[in-house]
Amino acid sequence: MGHFIMDFLSEKKQFTPPEGLGTKFAVHEVTRFIVDCLMAAGASREVAAAHAEVMVAADVRGHYSHGLQRIDLYVTELRHGVTDGRVTPTIVRESASSALVDGNNGFGSVVGNFCMDLAIEKAWKTGIACVCAKGSNHYGIAGWYSIRAAKQGLIGFSFTNAFPGVLGTRAKKAAFGTNPIAVAAPGKNNHNFELDMATSVVASGKVEVAHLKEESIPLGWLMDENGKLTSDPSGITGDAILMPLGGTEEHSGYKGTGLGMMVEILCGILSGGDYAHNIRDWKTFNRPANLSHCFIAINPALYAPGFEDRMSDLMDSCRSMEPADPSKPVLVAGDPERAHSKVVMDEGGITYHPNQAKQCWQTAKLLSVAPMTPCVRKGQASVYKVWTKKSEVQGCKQDKKHCVQYLFLLKVEPSH
Ligand SMILES: NC(=O)c1ccc[n+]([C@@H]2O[C@H](COP(=O)([O-])OP(=O)(O)OC[C@H]3O[C@@H](n4cnc5c(N)ncnc54)[C@H](O)[C@@H]3O)[C@@H](O)[C@H]2O)c1
Repeated sequence: MGHFIMDFLSEKKQFTPPEGLGTKFAVHEVTRFIVDCLMAAGASREVAAAHAEVMVAADVRGHYSHGLQRIDLYVTELRHGVTDGRVTPTIVRESASSALVDGNNGFGSVVGNFCMDLAIEKAWKTGIACVCAKGSNHYGIAGWYSIRAAKQGLIGFSFTNAFPGVLGTRAKKAAFGTNPIAVAAPGKNNHNFELDMATSVVASGKVEVAHLKEESIPLGWLMDENGKLTSDPSGITGDAILMPLGGTEEHSGYKGTGLGMMVEILCGILSGGDYAHNIRDWKTFNRPANLSHCFIAINPALYAPGFEDRMSDLMDSCRSMEPADPSKPVLVAGDPERAHSKVVMDEGGITYHPNQAKQCWQTAKLLSVAPMTPCVRKGQASVYKVWTKKSEVQGCKQDKKHCVQYLFLLKVEPSH
């Protein structure tokens, strides 16, 4: 067993990043970079583009834990042949409202999109559908898939298991992965409820990002190898483990442990893939990850009429509650991500920490791909102007961010 990700990171160190790499990069440039890296490591253009879309969406939404930050992990998995960057999933068995899918060790995003689209198709016919997959890999932000259903007017759920890195309540060791739960429900005018959360206090990537930025973390996120809570994020690259949602037993951490187990039941147990302690350590690449996911779609129109109106009323009534601190308005799940996406849109690019830019530059050198070119001027948001026509032709009626990526996939340069 080798720590290949560590090998990759030390190989990168032979390249010294220059000064002035910039920190703001246009969405299409980040997408281009990710696609180039994944293809250089062996993925097909189609798979690379699908995965880049999910990774970039994470950064646009402000979840830097699951965007560019993860590129080295995917590249290392491809280079060591433990993920297949060229396959598509297959249906093992199905009924009108269910399916078991084999990801064939392909990229999690490819498997996730396939399964959620299948669940959506079945839910339109039957009212509710549940599709689960085995033989998959890390699928990025869970919310990507639940939102896919909500964009079509359905309630969407998405779950995945992950390698065990979260303390089991009363145990000395990790019991489950960060096993996220994502639920998206359509409100009026595409303003949806979008809950997307790890069942640990935070996603492990948030600790990795703090480590990258050389910042400390709040006490309560991470437990060191001696069983003590620590504010030093560096342990995440070693033997430290995350706390379950809630934290210690006194703070109801057993509820996080229970939710993590619920996700595992819907994923590894239901699909027959690896589960909990059987899942490969994310830092070793001696065998495929064999991760599992679960996707559920429900058609609310088959229940009481006016679902979207009531959803919007519910969300607005929460938002209009008087805040304890007037500078911090009450939010609904999905609001922080919408706010972050708007900043990216307004500024015409995603802002990264300088250390992230350096890391990506080194990755580019190692893979012999073009490093990312930063935004040179304000107003690059004008690239979005071309979206309407092209996207309508392609049936992409979602939002501008997606459409710029669409143009990229179609190999059409967004004009300024
Ligand atoms: N693929 C994997 O294996 C994996 C594992 C774990 C997490 N993840 C992903 O990591 C990402 C981050 O997870 P996290 O749990 O650290 O996210 P988080 O704690 O930042 O946010 C969780 C949810 O809380 C909502 N929220 C945040 N602040 C709020 C507020 N003040 N009021 C109301 N709602 C609020 C957010 O909109 C979000 O839906 C997610 O996208 C998740 O899917 C992926």
